[in-house]
Amino acid sequence: MKILEIEGGKTLSGTVRISGAKNSAVALIPAAILSDEEVTICNVPEITDIEALCEILKYLHADVSRTNDSIVIKSNHMENREIPTNLSKKLRASYYFMGALLGKYGYVKMRFPGGCSIGARPINLHLKGFEALGATIKEQHNCYLVEAKELKGANIYLDFASVGATLNIMLAAVKAKGTTIIDNAAKEPEIVNVATLLNNMGAKITGAGTSTIKIQGVSSLGSCFHEVIPDRIEAGTYIILGACCGDHLKIENIIPEHVEALTSKLQEAGVPLEIGIDSITVTKAKKPKAIQVRTQTYPGFATDFQQPFSVFLTQCEGKSKIEETIYENRFMHIPYLTQLGADIRVKNQTATIIGPTPLIGSSVVATDLRAGAALVIAGLIAEGKTQITNVEHIVRGYEQIVEKLTNIGANIKEREI
Ligand code: EPU
Repeated sequence: MKILEIEGGKTLSGTVRISGAKNSAVALIPAAILSDEEVTICNVPEITDIEALCEILKYLHADVSRTNDSIVIKSNHMENREIPTNLSKKLRASYYFMGALLGKYGYVKMRFPGGCSIGARPINLHLKGFEALGATIKEQHNCYLVEAKELKGANIYLDFASVGATLNIMLAAVKAKGTTIIDNAAKEPEIVNVATLLNNMGAKITGAGTSTIKIQGVSSLGSCFHEVIPDRIEAGTYIILGACCGDHLKIENIIPEHVEALTSKLQEAGVPLEIGIDSITVTKAKKPKAIQVRTQTYPGFATDFQQPFSVFLTQCEGKSKIEETIYENRFMHIPYLTQLGADIRVKNQTATIIGPTPLIGSSVVATDLRAGAALVIAGLIAEGKTQITNVEHIVRGYEQIVEKLTNIGANIKEREI
């Protein structure tokens, strides 16, 4: 078993270079199979979620090769077969193969996906969208058989602006006959990045990044070269880290606009930030003050920042509150933060944090990806040694986290026990 061992209390400075966005890359890879020609995606992070998707591609007999940060995918000889549970359960994003295989072949059989246990995470909106496009769905024991004689464009209103449903419907609709309109679509930057890839392949998508996306079906898609956008959640995690224990810590290769909801909250708490064109430099505030945040869909304060941000709030003076509105079970890191010395109470979907409290190192468990990131930050500000188990959750989404942190002066090691 792998663990992370952190000796906390160090001031961190230097530069962290942000990798390509996990939540974009995990949709771009399934999207690439809609083309029969070669698709090259660069700036792909080296994380285990990407390895899992490449395994699925190989299982489907697509050609996939990886050099440095690029992945080349050619799927003209691939086979549309049921992805085994051991592969689909490895990550949430395996469900993008539902939309992509349905769009390519008019038929897909797939299991319910895996991913972090942060709520029930149903896929009803994805299925409703496929049905609107003319597919029939049969479900047995969490295995979905989705098929359509012909996919036809439709007007689809999403009850919730779901990232996954917006992308999956987009993938299924791109080669459907006629025009599809997705209303109340998710507006996250990852949606824009995927629409850009599809358009580079020859699709006709407009409105990505707004709440109305229009997709005019095309009969075939060709080759292209595409770049993954910088990971705004990885960027936000390091910015929060800098707010906790940074001294001119520079986070570079980012799009500052993508993290604006976070940076404005940090500024409200009194954290000094220097916002550049593609970087943000952050220094720990002398006496940050308590604030309130509420998670929302983009461009609101992202749920993915919530867990790391709660660690920052333990260092703020006064009573802070975080209301989690997206997932019903995303406070699993809180008992571990209290074990480290934080004063936090959770009632319904709101965490009340009283600070500042010193944190003392202890043995804790990463229950999910962003909970793991939160505990890494907590360990880095805590006095003494922190051991984090279930590291596999963290390496699903953070490329070279140990190296990046070591480079800025952290004392962190990955150990096999
Ligand atoms: N929802 C439904 N029905 C659906 C789809 C979603 O009720 O058919 C609900 C979910 O249960 C949840 C809410 O809608 O309560 C938001 O879900 P959404 O579909 O927007 O999220 P997702 O596609 O499952 C992606 C990211 C998450 C990120 C969310 C919100 C990927 C692979 N995952 O999840 O990332 O938190 O959008 O921005 O892109 C992470 O990176 O740690 C992570 C969990």
